[in-house]
Amino acid sequence: MKRVLTYGTYDLLHWGHVHLLKRARELGDYLIVGLSDDHFNKVKHKESYNPYEARKLVLESIRFVDLVIPETCWEQKKDDVIKYNVDVFVIGDDWQGEFDFLKDYCEVIYLQRTDGISTSQIKNDLKI
Ligand code: CTP
Repeated sequence: MKRVLTYGTYDLLHWGHVHLLKRARELGDYLIVGLSDDHFNKVKHKESYNPYEARKLVLESIRFVDLVIPETCWEQKKDDVIKYNVDVFVIGDDWQGEFDFLKDYCEVIYLQRTDGISTSQIKNDLKI
């Protein structure tokens, strides 16, 4: 079984997210999402509209997602790759090059972001 791992905040889930998750899942047989918890979002200077448990519930209902785990800090990625026997680490190309250090442990793939949609844009458009 080929296991794929990705990370993110996934607040106000939108079609750009789903497009990323679908392509990530197609790279293997099992997709794990490291979902940024509310404390880590603050560290990233991101404040989500929906709290962790609500974002997790939504992500778990997506058919491309097999497992959601908490992302609590920047440093956990290498340990997660080893712990979950990950073959492929994948993330949007807004992170291009940032996680190349994981290439010692698994394949690293940056997928093209979907144009025209983001959580920030939704919040801005709806003024929330
Ligand atoms: N993503 C994507 N296409 C988009 C938006 C997000 O492929 N239009 C990807 C990101 O590259 C990342 C994952 O979805 O791999 C989760 O991104 P996240 O930061 O949670 O979503 P954004 O919409 O980018 O949120 P924000 O606007 O708050 O940065």
